[in-house]
Amino acid sequence: MIEVIILVLAYLLGSIPSGLIVGKIGYGIDIREHGSGNLGGTNTFRTLGVKAGLIVTLADILKGTLAAALPLLFQADLNPLLVGTIGVLGHMYPIFAKFRGGKAVATSGGVLLFAAPVMFVTMLAVFFILLYITKYVSLSSMLTGIYGLIFSLFTGELPLIIVLALLTTFVIYRHRANISRIMNKTEPKVKWL
Ligand code: G3P
Repeated sequence: MIEVIILVLAYLLGSIPSGLIVGKIGYGIDIREHGSGNLGGTNTFRTLGVKAGLIVTLADILKGTLAAALPLLFQADLNPLLVGTIGVLGHMYPIFAKFRGGKAVATSGGVLLFAAPVMFVTMLAVFFILLYITKYVSLSSMLTGIYGLIFSLFTGELPLIIVLALLTTFVIYRHRANISRIMNKTEPKVKWL
């Protein structure tokens, strides 16, 4: 029973729409009606600036970290990676925001930060290197997921490989519009790098 409660809690935690809350309460806007239309940190940076973008990104990371930590907090025999992945599903399809959520990047990062910290640090480094080279957050996010999946194949830990395959699939699937824009050369690049 506690396992079911934890999985529901992870989904509800992931469903907290940080971007919507910060946009509505702080600035009176729904960020899904601006920029890329995504309920995530990148679009918050783009639409509302650095302070709001940082808050939303950190809150989205925290959701993943807390979701993955639930088994430990409740002393339950559940894999943190699995529970964290349910949190990521909540982030992408939030019950509190008409199931229109984000693209799984920051929340997946939060899951890895708790459940596979070495992987998190290497992926974060790879992400920033790719961002420096490409200037595309979306492309860097997808490539970082693919890098993480390939890297995990060498660690031999099956749960991590499975979860990275799932998370990377989520990330790529949620970036379909970005992929089209990259092909059309209309995807915005970051200007601060
Ligand atoms: O974290 C999502 C990012 O990779 C892309 O966001 O707003 O450019 O679609 P956005």
